[in-house]
Amino acid sequence: TPVPVCDLVIAGASGDLAMRKLFPALVQRISEGVIPEASRIVGIVRSGETEDGLKDGAATRLKEQGLKSPDIDSFLQRLSYVRADVSDSATMGDLNARLDDPGRVRAFYLATPPDLFIPAARALKGAGLLEHDSRLILEKPLGRNLSSARAINDAVAEVLPEGRTYRIDHYLGKETVQNLLVLRFANSLFERSWSQRDIDHVQITVAETVGLEKRADYYDRVGALRDMVQNHVLQLLCLFAMEPPNTLDADAVRDEKVRVLRALRPIEGRDVLRYTVRGQYMAGSIAGRPVPGYADELGRDSGTETFTALRCEIDTWRWGGVPIYLRTGKRMGARCSEIAVTFKSVPHSIFRDNPEPNRLVIRVQPDDGVQLQFMMKVPGSGRLKLVPRTLDLRYDTAFGGRTPDAYERLLTDVIRGDQTLFMRRDEVEAAWGFVDPIIEGWNEFYATPHRYAAGSFGPSQAVGMIERDGRSWAEPEVQG
Ligand code: BG6
Repeated sequence: TPVPVCDLVIAGASGDLAMRKLFPALVQRISEGVIPEASRIVGIVRSGETEDGLKDGAATRLKEQGLKSPDIDSFLQRLSYVRADVSDSATMGDLNARLDDPGRVRAFYLATPPDLFIPAARALKGAGLLEHDSRLILEKPLGRNLSSARAINDAVAEVLPEGRTYRIDHYLGKETVQNLLVLRFANSLFERSWSQRDIDHVQITVAETVGLEKRADYYDRVGALRDMVQNHVLQLLCLFAMEPPNTLDADAVRDEKVRVLRALRPIEGRDVLRYTVRGQYMAGSIAGRPVPGYADELGRDSGTETFTALRCEIDTWRWGGVPIYLRTGKRMGARCSEIAVTFKSVPHSIFRDNPEPNRLVIRVQPDDGVQLQFMMKVPGSGRLKLVPRTLDLRYDTAFGGRTPDAYERLLTDVIRGDQTLFMRRDEVEAAWGFVDPIIEGWNEFYATPHRYAAGSFGPSQAVGMIERDGRSWAEPEVQG
């Protein structure tokens, strides 16, 4: 479906998210002609610089990110700013005057901290801006626990229906994440073995090499479990584990995802000490470059985790008894997000060498693709010798070209009115419902983070947790 003419209003337009993700995505989409000419981007700023100054600043940031001047220029032609306080409808006169064409699709993107979501939603409503088919886009994190997420969802529901509320989890916009649906449901080969009958266990790793970046205030209040697991990692888990939806409709897909979240066995009480690990990085080195520890980067001691690993189970017929290990962390040995599926071993080996189990790795980033490992005979005579070898399918070699960024896809989906890749209210709340007891358990049992060296793959306790089950973490394949 073509993208209709739209007015996209961004609150937090001089913030990091807008500069690093939203503006570049819009530059791309406008230059490709996907977003029609007549569309307008309106940034809300509170005070300070002039419009020219703001545009110059934006242009500089976009150039730094390698975008081309003519493309930046055509984006800037569509960009304007208004001064307003997004939490106060009395300041929105100019914005109201600017949005003078009710025939356009109108979307408000709250690229702001979540404590502004409620006042902003009310103020936009109060200023009469949420009429017609207006849409509201909320960036994660949606609250910091179930009750604050509910409060946000309730307040938003008072001002506009769920069908016009778009909760972003940018992992859902990533090409490979969408490809997970295709891998599973457009190929009959895998689906037959996608269950406890054939799968021994699953590992989901989201490893980053970055540290705090410039987000100390945000990150130290949040930590890895809330920042990454509650949303991105659990979303990957949902797409991996859900039952086949009967269509690709937004609600068909989201109904299946929420069932997975609800079937996650709670980790609570003392179990948090057994089935979860918290970590925080110390100084170390990544790719030969020394990096400081978290406390040094932050400038003070902190009890926030920058790494977490969990052992989960999904209590359903499909997944009963299959452990699902999740881990995510900052300042790890490599940037790598992947889902590694280990199949069961052969029931009886006729060879002297024990065959290793088959392993399917769905690589989300970087070098996205799919790898399947199986056993082969080493050529030559003499003793029959077995080795594992990998069938390696990379998207860049299969397709070439540029992979669009997640936000490019998501922003155009909002304008088109397609909610499939956005989190529905019940999903967000079910995910918090799983995360809350873990945080409560950590607080109750003083689970302070274990230390790990920057450049490693987390604290030894995470290794201990999986080894207790007689398994080990898949070594992410680190590409040059
Ligand atoms: C964000 C988190 O949602 O995702 C960040 O807040 C994290 O802490 C980022 O770095 C990772 O996104 P990506 O697309 O780089 O994997």
